[in-house]
Amino acid sequence: MSERTQVAIIGAGPAGLVLSHLLHLQGIESVILESRSRDYVEKRIRAGMLEQRVVDLLISTGVGERLKREAMVHTGLNFQFEGERHRIPLEELTPGRNVTIYGQQEVVKDLIAARLAAGGVIRFEAAGQSVQGLDGLRPVVRYTESGELKELVADHIAGCDGFHGVCRGAVANSKVYEKVYPFAWLGILAQVAPSCEELIYARHERGFALHTMRTPKLTRLYLQCPVEDRVEQWSDDRIWSELSARLNIPGWSLKDGPIVDKGITEMRSFVHTPMQQGRLYLAGDSAHIVPPTGAKGMNLAIADSMVLAQALAEYYKSGSSEPLLRYAADCLPRVWRAQHFSWWWTTLFHRFEDADAQFQEQLQVSQLRYMLASRPALTSMAENYVGLDRVV
Ligand code: FAD
Ligand code: PHB
Repeated sequence: MSERTQVAIIGAGPAGLVLSHLLHLQGIESVILESRSRDYVEKRIRAGMLEQRVVDLLISTGVGERLKREAMVHTGLNFQFEGERHRIPLEELTPGRNVTIYGQQEVVKDLIAARLAAGGVIRFEAAGQSVQGLDGLRPVVRYTESGELKELVADHIAGCDGFHGVCRGAVANSKVYEKVYPFAWLGILAQVAPSCEELIYARHERGFALHTMRTPKLTRLYLQCPVEDRVEQWSDDRIWSELSARLNIPGWSLKDGPIVDKGITEMRSFVHTPMQQGRLYLAGDSAHIVPPTGAKGMNLAIADSMVLAQALAEYYKSGSSEPLLRYAADCLPRVWRAQHFSWWWTTLFHRFEDADAQFQEQLQVSQLRYMLASRPALTSMAENYVGLDRVV
């Protein structure tokens, strides 16, 4: 027998959970199918930086209580190059707007708790296999749960199933825009207090390094590494010595501590169009990926869900499909702005090894120096970093 709902959501990451939460606030029912267990999605360590508009959304929709207590608001960040550190006063450059450090898994935990408390349905360990009937009025998700093949019939399907999900493949006539970078990031989480109150983006001849954090007792650090590297090649000692070589400056040194998580992430810029097919809408990483340098992925995933929730609310309120037909067109300007920023931020700080690497190095240093000397250049960076309210 098949189950029925208004909106079938595949994936309980930030995109799927925010969508389900916003729909609930508009009186629209949804069912989330998630292939992993609740424990797994609540512990998966990924993003950590929220734009102001995402923080405002979480607080104004009632899922920001713990965030207000525990998150760390950052009013500045640091650039480091040629052995010197420079603080950039975000708050002065973008009055009233800052960035907030709060782990993606904490956002996910808060949203899961809110959905379940409100009687929402999240089926964990239920893996979407295919989506069908997208061009009709009753699209269907076929999924497996406890070894059984089941069906979920809906008015609409939201493909929030990340980069490796099944939904993107169901979109016909697709065009993909893609750039793969010739390096990766090794990320660690360490049980040690952050060595600096704010983030440090370091351009170094040995490669990029980033000092960030999760809590006053947990430091998150990233290192540029070769794409072919495996985590096993990076002993804790090697990681700390490489991070210190790239981040230490006279009078300041990185504090180390037990490493509790270690992982390598490839770097890719990717946009899949169209972001919809009939009654299937792709949101978040299922439609687009940015390199993590600009911290835009989760923010963009949530931005798509805000647009989709609004369009679905309009559909159920007035019967008009017009905002739904415009869904992709409404999302793409922000997607491309984030793509540009993430690509630019990545090329500004990483070490390249191509034939023109030395040329690129000079461009990087020139641009970083220019930003320090030019308030308009710095303001342009800052407004993209904290997130634009409106993108045209
Ligand atoms: P996901 O979080 O990938 O969620 C998709 C969900 O769908 C998953 O739970 C998956 O298990 C589930 N799923 C997949 N297939 C199926 C299926 N067939 N059936 C059912 N369920 C399925 N972004 C930022 O904004 N700020 C940052 O600071 C930042 N830092 C990052 C650092 C690193 C190292 C990495 C790797 C990423 C970072 N990102 C950052 C990016 C961010 O983590 C992603 O963009 C974000 O997770 C996208 O959310 P999503 O909901 O679209 O997809
Ligand atoms: C993170 O905290 O994981 C993070 C922060 C800022 C970035 C990228 C990642 O630019």
